[in-house]
Amino acid sequence: MAKFMGRVEFPCTIELGKGLEGAITNITKIGYVDGQEGHLVYRGYSIEDLCENSNYEEVAYLLIYGNLPTASQLADFESKMRAERTLPDEVKELIKSLPHDCHPMNALQAAVAAMGCMDHDGLEVTRHVSNPKESVDVERDVAVRILAQTRNAAAAIARVRKGGDILDPNPELDFTANYLYMMSGEIPDETRRRVMDVCLILQADHGMNASTFTAMVVHSSLADMYSTIAAAIGSLRGPLHGGANEAALADIQSIGTPDKAKEWVASRFAQNEKIIGFGHRVYKALDPRAVVLKGHAERLCREHGFNDLYESAATVEKEVTTRMEAAGKKIYPNVDFYSGLVYHALGFPTPQFPVIFAVARTAGWVARVLEYLPENRIFRPRAVYDGAVDQKVVPINQR
Ligand SMILES: CC(C)(COP(=O)(O)OP(=O)(O)OC[C@H]1O[C@@H](n2cnc3c(N)ncnc32)[C@H](O)[C@@H]1OP(=O)(O)O)[C@@H](O)C(=O)NCCC(=O)NCCS
Repeated sequence: MAKFMGRVEFPCTIELGKGLEGAITNITKIGYVDGQEGHLVYRGYSIEDLCENSNYEEVAYLLIYGNLPTASQLADFESKMRAERTLPDEVKELIKSLPHDCHPMNALQAAVAAMGCMDHDGLEVTRHVSNPKESVDVERDVAVRILAQTRNAAAAIARVRKGGDILDPNPELDFTANYLYMMSGEIPDETRRRVMDVCLILQADHGMNASTFTAMVVHSSLADMYSTIAAAIGSLRGPLHGGANEAALADIQSIGTPDKAKEWVASRFAQNEKIIGFGHRVYKALDPRAVVLKGHAERLCREHGFNDLYESAATVEKEVTTRMEAAGKKIYPNVDFYSGLVYHALGFPTPQFPVIFAVARTAGWVARVLEYLPENRIFRPRAVYDGAVDQKVVPINQR
């Protein structure tokens, strides 16, 4: 049921769901967010189960193909991704030539768009919708290519900023270990790989969020998958969405010491400012992703000497939720509040946080647009015109 947001009497009475609140885009089998109880499910599997008993590659396969892979399906999937051994030289050159102080999300968006310029077959696929089944099969291969190459580009962008050479994936490593390896040049230990894997699984898909909807809208015009993913990256970048993890960490760091956290929250409330890393359109209970990440954040912060940072965050959480409950609002920490702490403790520069999110979410983006393709209809909502009518153009020298 759409929350009533306003009533406009032009040209007829309508109900406006601001931010498309309550609007339904399609029927999906990919994932489900239970905002009341705080559950997130990918194709029937809870994220807790997937984090415990699978890895990111299996989850990406699950989202894109519809089932958890058998050993041979996984081997085939891995070999398709391994075929994307290296970024095209033109994309590597582009990444090197961009200013190293530009935001890495802008660089990633440019790199994905540039990949499209190099993949002529990939650009043609979507247009052949006379046989949607065949179109989905062919475009799924393009999607798998993009999944691997987006990770490669993300790692290359991080690496170049540290002054390193762009590395190709190591064929001995899985998706996540390769991502870490290509960023740092070091093969990660199992603990590090596992935590990163959990982060990627938790961010792989999440209902009809802004970037997923962006992907759906772009692809619904039968634009190619590269344009689709580049647009979704742009949508994810903002602080109300995937950019919240970097903004949340910056806020916690700005507090200084844990004893100042209560005062910091009080001043935010006094100025009526939103606390980044809290709240969600769908969750009216604890975000289950934040629950998983909080445990990792605490452990990693204690192991890596960020005790104060973790204590400040925990105090902010307690203070904000207490104040919100007192005001009758169901506002809790979301995934971005604790993912920032995890990434910081793992040693990633803050601007890379939303890039990691984008790498993970690419699986969800491609899965959702592929699911929609056989029944494709271009998205075309309407706006209510509430401006002037019957204006006449006055010549410029008389205005
Ligand atoms: C996620 C978010 C964009 C959802 O926005 P939304 O569904 O449009 O929700 P609204 O902004 O309409 O908020 C609803 C109410 O909760 C309050 N609220 C929501 N998030 C809040 C926050 N982070 N801090 C303080 N108050 C918040 C709003 O002020 C509003 O109160 P009101 O009804 O008294 O006006 C919003 O919660 C937000 O801006 N959070 C901070 C950014 C963030 O962490 N984004 C990552 C999301 S995973």
